[in-house]
Amino acid sequence: MKRIIEAALQDRPCDLVLKNARIVNVFTDQILEGDIGICGGRIAGIGSMEGKEETDLQGRFVLSGFIDAHLHIESSMVTPQALSPVLLSHGVATAVCDPHEIANACGLPGIRFMLDSAGLSRMDYRFTLPSSVPSCDFEINGAGTLSARDMEPLLAHPRVAGLAEVMRIPDVLSARPGMMEKLALFQSDGLVIDGHAPALSGHHLQAYKAAGIENDHEAMTAEEAIERLQNGFTLFIREGSGARNLEPLLGGLLNAHMPLTRCCFCTDDKHIEDILQEGTIDWCLRKAVSLGCPPVEAVKMATLNPAVHYHLKNKGAIAPGYEADLVVVDDLKDFRIHAVYRTGQPVTEPAAGPAVTGQLEDTVHLPAFTAQDLEQALRKDQVIGLVDHELYTLNLPASSLTADDLASCSYVCAMERYGKTGEYACGLLKGFNLKGGALAASYGHDSHNIIAAGDSFEDLALAIHKLEEIHGGYVLVRDGRIAATLPLEIGGVMSREDAQTVADAALRMKKLARDMGVPEGVDPFATLSFLSLPVIPEIRITPQGLYDVKKRRFLDRD
Ligand SMILES: [Fe+2]
Repeated sequence: MKRIIEAALQDRPCDLVLKNARIVNVFTDQILEGDIGICGGRIAGIGSMEGKEETDLQGRFVLSGFIDAHLHIESSMVTPQALSPVLLSHGVATAVCDPHEIANACGLPGIRFMLDSAGLSRMDYRFTLPSSVPSCDFEINGAGTLSARDMEPLLAHPRVAGLAEVMRIPDVLSARPGMMEKLALFQSDGLVIDGHAPALSGHHLQAYKAAGIENDHEAMTAEEAIERLQNGFTLFIREGSGARNLEPLLGGLLNAHMPLTRCCFCTDDKHIEDILQEGTIDWCLRKAVSLGCPPVEAVKMATLNPAVHYHLKNKGAIAPGYEADLVVVDDLKDFRIHAVYRTGQPVTEPAAGPAVTGQLEDTVHLPAFTAQDLEQALRKDQVIGLVDHELYTLNLPASSLTADDLASCSYVCAMERYGKTGEYACGLLKGFNLKGGALAASYGHDSHNIIAAGDSFEDLALAIHKLEEIHGGYVLVRDGRIAATLPLEIGGVMSREDAQTVADAALRMKKLARDMGVPEGVDPFATLSFLSLPVIPEIRITPQGLYDVKKRRFLDRD
């Protein structure tokens, strides 16, 4: 404390001074010219400063380190440690993460692994604890149910910022005791409660807010965005790999002259190859300014607004006492990153080494089955219809399709993989179009059982058996042979490898899938992984069978 006061008074030199900066001040909407003095990892002062070390920024703009307001690290397929250098290189110094996927696969040991891996990272990861494990009562996951009592010991952890996306909306609206216990526990601790309210509106949305839920990242239209702001939610504007909501939401808010003080950027689910190619929150900034958003307003959505929302003290701004997480950019249009500082040190973090995870690497335990068994399990009267660029699916009676359409369908299989029930189900899938093989994954939202699709039961069986051998991940079979694998050994959802290795493998497999016929409007990985999530209409497949989401029942159980 004494050192930073003396450095601020200029009675002693700062550790580092960034000279000749144009500093974006998010409190006054000004761009100030001067030096930034850093001492002990914090900003000591701004103006004319002297330091033991000095770097001339030659008039470049300096922003506070970006904050991703909501992110599932597992969707990148790499560990927190491996993701850290990648996010930092794009200016993201802090991310609020929901370890929902590993929690479904591995429970508390999975969450603890994420906390430990975060602790080995240069980035500042904060966590919200998964509220909805499993996402539906009937789901079979690796972890079973995560209760308020299970989570309580983790509340005091310094990285825990709140309760993660409350997606079991019926439990909230019916004031179900298990959910009420979770909400009360986190409220009493003054932590933030995250929302997840797709298509919710009117009195249902208000009841959801009245329960204490504070933000939402599922708005898809400007009307939904405005209704959320009107009701006091903080609006998270999402730009992930699949869901791209920034243009409709921000465009609509700008048109309606809405204040943006309660808006933040988030990525939610973004694959590592997309992060490496286009960026994350820096991508949001570029896109926002291209839509006509004033640059300083855009910067606030990437810095101050999420810091205020999550009570992240001394983050999100460049002012005395604030953490010296700084991003140096060439301009406020393209936000091309010149340098990143984390707690006052330039970021030159090398790629992370392999993560050590022990018992989390043995989670794929399949029942005995053959290709003939899968064929016998096939349900032919109902078809899952894919919709281009959407996670939404159509519930199509087979009788409504032509013989050609039916013949072009893929077989899709969901199989329990934790050695619990050994159940599996097979159905027909229209629009995936993978020909001459099969693609299988242990990454299947939210319970992360096996999900696979292809045009022959032999190839499906081969791909699924290979998944067990590699302890989870993705397997592509072509012409009766294993054509590519992407092992995700950690809980069957994350790789031990570094980001570039995983991205290269993912891109190679996606290209193969495209060569085999998967059309442009279908993401081979994302589409497959959401086919088993029984909360997105109209129809899903889980190990128990085809599930009608609108009627909330399995088709077999009419
Ligand atoms: Fe999410």
